[in-house]
Order: sequence, then structure tokens, then C-alpha cells
Amino acid sequence: MHALDSTGFHFSQVTGMQKFTGCVHATTTSLHRQTDKHHPLENLTSVEVGVDKNVKAGSSTKTGRNRQECLGHPALVTILARFFGKLLGQELDPLTNVLVTVGAYEALFCCFQALVDEGDEVIIIEPFFDCYEPMVKMAGGTSVFVQLRPKAAETGKLMSSGDWQLDPAELASRFTERTKAIVLNSPNNPLGKVFTREEMEFIADLCVKHDVLCFSDEVYEWLVYDGKEHIRIASLPGMWDRTITIGSAGKTFSTTGWKVGWTLGPDHLLKHLRTVHQNSVYHCPTAAQEALAQAFQREFDSYGKPDSYFVQLSQELQQKRDWLVRSLVAGGMKPIVPEGTYFLMADFSEFKSEVPDVPDSDEPYDSRFIKWMIINKGLVAIPVSAFYSTPHKRNFDHLIRFCFAKEEATLKAAEDILQQWSLEKTGQ
Ligand SMILES: Cc1ncc(COP(=O)(O)O)c(C=O)c1O
Repeated sequence: MHALDSTGFHFSQVTGMQKFTGCVHATTTSLHRQTDKHHPLENLTSVEVGVDKNVKAGSSTKTGRNRQECLGHPALVTILARFFGKLLGQELDPLTNVLVTVGAYEALFCCFQALVDEGDEVIIIEPFFDCYEPMVKMAGGTSVFVQLRPKAAETGKLMSSGDWQLDPAELASRFTERTKAIVLNSPNNPLGKVFTREEMEFIADLCVKHDVLCFSDEVYEWLVYDGKEHIRIASLPGMWDRTITIGSAGKTFSTTGWKVGWTLGPDHLLKHLRTVHQNSVYHCPTAAQEALAQAFQREFDSYGKPDSYFVQLSQELQQKRDWLVRSLVAGGMKPIVPEGTYFLMADFSEFKSEVPDVPDSDEPYDSRFIKWMIINKGLVAIPVSAFYSTPHKRNFDHLIRFCFAKEEATLKAAEDILQQWSLEKTGQ
């Protein structure tokens, strides 16, 4: 049953949300607007003494404005709204369409906690970033899985992440009356798949048809290779009003330790995320937000130009990807060439004779293989079975995930280890 929410939007999925009844909603945005208009002595609401005032560049108490910190440092939400508004073809209000979070992790957590209710189903595409499933569960929902299935690579070519595709009929069959949301992660961790416009349009059409939300995890949005295009599902027809777009400074500016993330979306969805954020984290450290705001401002000015960090980063990582692919092939593994991210999955079936299987073991084979590889070869990777739901883990335990966002010395050391291993294997 569809109904109008307080913004006048005709949308059943959000108005159906009962679980925050009685919770404090973020009232700060209306206060901010009044403050902007009437300029009261606002520092009476905040601490004006201490180390912040004198020392920290970008600290909001220093500038006398700490009032928007709950939703994000003013300089950051402003530039995020400008930057992504342009890319999404959408005018974004920094106060109501942007929320800054502690990394994309908190952004995801807010999505599930805010918008998934007891009994709701959430569609997750396998392989998936492993926190989605527990986050759905913690929100009281049920995960429904659909797999990207590999088709054979073109003769003489290595398999690409683009060879992994959804079966349209299978995907359509996962949408039921209970479906609240689908999680889309493009470029995908761990596979590196960059969903095509056609694939996105198919997903978008299903979301519109079934009145379903989309949590679009786009943390690797700038890491796309071979001229591939990152499509933002929120920019497709009918999707802005039902999509939360998630980003991460950690992936965008290679600053994992800063732990700054963000969500972009319509106010009628973000207001529920603000409730979760306001009553858990409240606000994120200002220094990292200020630094990120400056980095985004610089990118805004050099967007698409050769000195853009985003342009340079993907060029550099594409070369590193190709280097690791060559090393793995020379060593006897079968890499799946990723179109995006800085991860790469490789098939190690050729090495199975080195580590015998233990059929009744609870531990997936890829996990045992990696433990053996660490001890005997000094190489580490992540088991791909960790990115599958329990019933499907065994079908993918011949794959491991490497990361190629590494110093040249590390890539060279990996190349040497793989070469040596291959020589030992062939008895040379
Ligand atoms: C697909 C995906 N989403 C979200 C995150 C979390 O990002 P952050 O480090 O900003 O919390 C990661 C981190 O590895 C990721 O791979």
C-alpha cells in the first residue's frame, strides 16, 4: 500500500518504516536553516575554549561553527554536494542530501539499520563484500542471494570479471513482496566487475517495478580500467528517489586510515540514516573531513584533466594490475582480469596437488590453501569463499583474492616467489 511521506513523496518502502517511532530524528537541519537566516550567537551551543580553538586547522569550534558536525563538516558536505550533484545530474542540498559517516562501513550500517525492518528481504549479489549479510541480519532482515555466474572466456584470452554475469530471469525471480532493497556493489569487491549500463538498467527497472530500494556501494568508483565507465545507478530514470549512494575517502584518495565515508540520497531516505547516525556516532572527526574537503575541491577544479588524482590513480593501478596478472600467469595460476577495484581473483586449481583436500573439514579449501601458502611460500591472499553465503562457499573455494595496490618492490617480490614456485613445480 503506497502512501505519502512527510516530504510528499509517494513511496511505500519508507513510510512503512515503523521501527523508529519515538526515536529522536535529526532536527538539526531545520535549526541550521534558521541559524543561517538569523545569525544568533551560536557559539553558546558549543565549546569555545581548549586545544581545538587554537590548534586544529579546519576545526569547527575555531571558526565558531560546530553546529553541522553531526551531519558532516560544512566544508565537506558542501563540496560533496557540488561534486556529486554534477555527476548525478541532480541538485544536492548539503544538509539533506549528504551524510558523512565513519567510513563506508558506517554508511552501510546506517542503511541497513535505518531502512531494513523485521521480515524484510534484501537481495545480495554474490560474490559480495562480506559485511552485507551480517548487517542485514542485525537489522532483522533476511538476505536473498543471486549469483554472478562465470561464462567461458574467449578462446586464447584470460577470463575477465566482465565474463561474470547475472542471469536476468534468476535475478527477477528474487524480487518478492517482501523485498525491501537490493545491494549493488560496482565495481565489485572481490571480483572487480564493473556493471555495464545495460546490466544497471535491468536492475533499475526491477527496482522501479517492485518498489524496491537500492543501496549502491560505489567505494571503488574511480578505480576502473581499460576505458570502462562507472555508471551511477542513482542517475538512471526512477532511481534517485530510491537509491542511497555510498562512497569512501579510503578508496577514493587512498586514505584508508582516515575512516571517512559518505552517503548521498533523497531526504526522505537520508532522514532515517541521520536518525541512526545521530544516535550512535553523532559526528565524525573534523580534521580528516577538512582534509578530504580540500582534496575534493582540488579534484573538482582538475576534474577529467591529466593532473587529476583520480585519472592518475587508475592509470597507475591498471599497470600494477597487469603486472600481477603477468606474474600469476607465469606462476601457473589463472587470474580473472578485473575491470575495476584493486583486487584480483585467481584460480589456483593447478596447485591442488600440493595441499590435499580434507573432505569433512569445516574449513573451506581456499582458506587451508592460503595458510599453507603463507607458511611455505611467504605469500598471502584472501579466500574467495569468504565472499559467499554458507551454502555456496564450497563451489568457489578454488579461488583466492589478491590486492595489487602495492609498492613496486612488493609486486616484484611476489613475481619472484611465483616464478620460483613454478620452477619447483615443473622440477626445474
Ligand atoms: C565494497 C566495500 N564497501 C565498503 C567498504 C568499507 O569502506 P571504508 O574503509 O570506507 O569503511 C569496503 C572496504 O574494504 C569495501 O570493499
